[in-house]
Amino acid sequence: MELLEAIKTRRSIREFTGERIPDEHIEMILDAARYAPSPENLQMWRYVVIREDQEMKDLIAELSMEVARQVFGAQPYELTGGRLWYLPDHLRPTEFEKIRDGSLFIYPKYADTVVIGCASESFTDSHLPYAMHLFGSVVVAMGMLQMWLASHSLGYGAGWMALAIADARQREMICERLGVPRTWEPIGVLCIGVPKEKRMLGPSRFPLEGVMYSERWGIPYRRVAFRKEKAK
Ligand SMILES: Cc1cc2nc3c(=O)[nH]c(=O)nc-3n(C[C@H](O)[C@H](O)[C@H](O)COP(=O)(O)O)c2cc1C
Repeated sequence: MELLEAIKTRRSIREFTGERIPDEHIEMILDAARYAPSPENLQMWRYVVIREDQEMKDLIAELSMEVARQVFGAQPYELTGGRLWYLPDHLRPTEFEKIRDGSLFIYPKYADTVVIGCASESFTDSHLPYAMHLFGSVVVAMGMLQMWLASHSLGYGAGWMALAIADARQREMICERLGVPRTWEPIGVLCIGVPKEKRMLGPSRFPLEGVMYSERWGIPYRRVAFRKEKAK
C-alpha cells in the first residue's frame, strides 16, 4: 500500500475476529516501531508484547470497560451524541450505548497482539531529564503509529486503547503484573488483530484551513485550489 494512502485510510479498529496473525507478519509490524525517530536516537521506548497471555488481554479489556463506564456511563446521550456526529442518525443511539456500557472497549480480548508502549524520563546522562510529555510519550506515540500503519498496510487492524491505563491504580496493577519497573511508564496500548469488517472512512478531519495557520497564528492556510493566480 502506498504510504499516503495508508495514512489516509487507517482507522481505529475495535472489532477483531480473534483469528491468529502469522508470526512473520506480527514481527514485521513490531519491527516498524524500531524505525521511529527519537531524540539523540536514544530509542527510549520499550514495548511489552502480549500474545499468548489471554488472561492479561482479558484483564486489559475488563479495565478498559470499567473506565469507559466511569467516563461515559453517567452522561446522557443527548449531551454527548455530538461525538458521533459522523455516523448516520439511526446508528448513533446504539453506538453510544456501547460506549456508555463499555462493551465497545472489550476488543483487547479478541486482539491477536496487545502492545503496551512504555516510556522513561531516566534515559539520559544530562542533568536535565527529558520530560515525559515532550519526549517519552512523543517517541512511544511515534513507534505506536508506525505499528498502526504497518498493521493497516498488511491488511490487519489496530486500535489505541488509553482507557486501561488511564486510572493510576489500574496502571499500577498492570505494571505490577507485567513487571514494569518504576522508572518506566505505560503510555498507550495498541491492540492488533484481524478486523471483523472494513470500517467506513471517518470520522472526518477538520479542513486544512481549520488547523493550519499561515505564517502567523490565526491566518488560515489557503489551499492551492483557492489561491488566485499570481499576477505575472
Ligand atoms: C492518544 C490516543 C488515545 C486514544 N484512546 C482510545 C481509547 O481509549 N479507546 C478507543 O477505543 N480509542 C482510542 N483512541 C482512538 C481515537 O478514538 C481515534 O483515533 C479517533 O477517534 C479517530 O478515529 P480513527 O483512528 O478511526 O481515524 C485513541 C487515540 C489516541 C491517539
